[in-house]
Amino acid sequence: MKTFYDFYQNPVQLSFDDHPFSKDPKHVWIICRYKGQWLLTKHKDRGLEFPGGKVESGETAEEAAIREVKEETGADVEELRYIGQYHVEGKGGTVIKNVYFAEIAELVEQDHYFETDGPVLFSHLPKGLANNNRFSFMMKDEVLPLCMERIEQHN
Ligand code: GTP
Repeated sequence: MKTFYDFYQNPVQLSFDDHPFSKDPKHVWIICRYKGQWLLTKHKDRGLEFPGGKVESGETAEEAAIREVKEETGADVEELRYIGQYHVEGKGGTVIKNVYFAEIAELVEQDHYFETDGPVLFSHLPKGLANNNRFSFMMKDEVLPLCMERIEQHN
């Protein structure tokens, strides 16, 4: 278990165990890889981030992950792998989020991308994201580098 503070100084716990905080998390976040590049979305308010969002009623977390990737980037998930789960004690309450790694089969242009401006591809993510105002707060704590490390170890 890793513990740290997020960009807003909220406490975060991250674990690579099998669903340590909730079997039924309400949020998902998906680190997407397409043709050797990282696939992000540009959220209209938060900026660049990996796609994700809330699990809807009647949906599994995996189904939500596949849906959110499609809605926010137009991408079809080929393979979805659970990476870990994190717990944020935010100002508005507790958020428990599953992190997945997804290999993307295809990127299909959409008419609209919900609350985002759609897909953005990076061959490498820039260094120093915490000081880069193009990027979302979600990309600015230890969740991202620790999950990236985990993904690389298991590839
Ligand atoms: P909507 O309800 O969709 O309008 O979004 P919201 O931002 O109000 O709600 P959400 O439940 O997604 O997030 C509530 C708060 O939890 C955010 O303002 C953050 O403080 C925190 N939070 C949500 N997701 C993350 C995350 O991935 N990382 C971190 N560090 N905090 C998060």
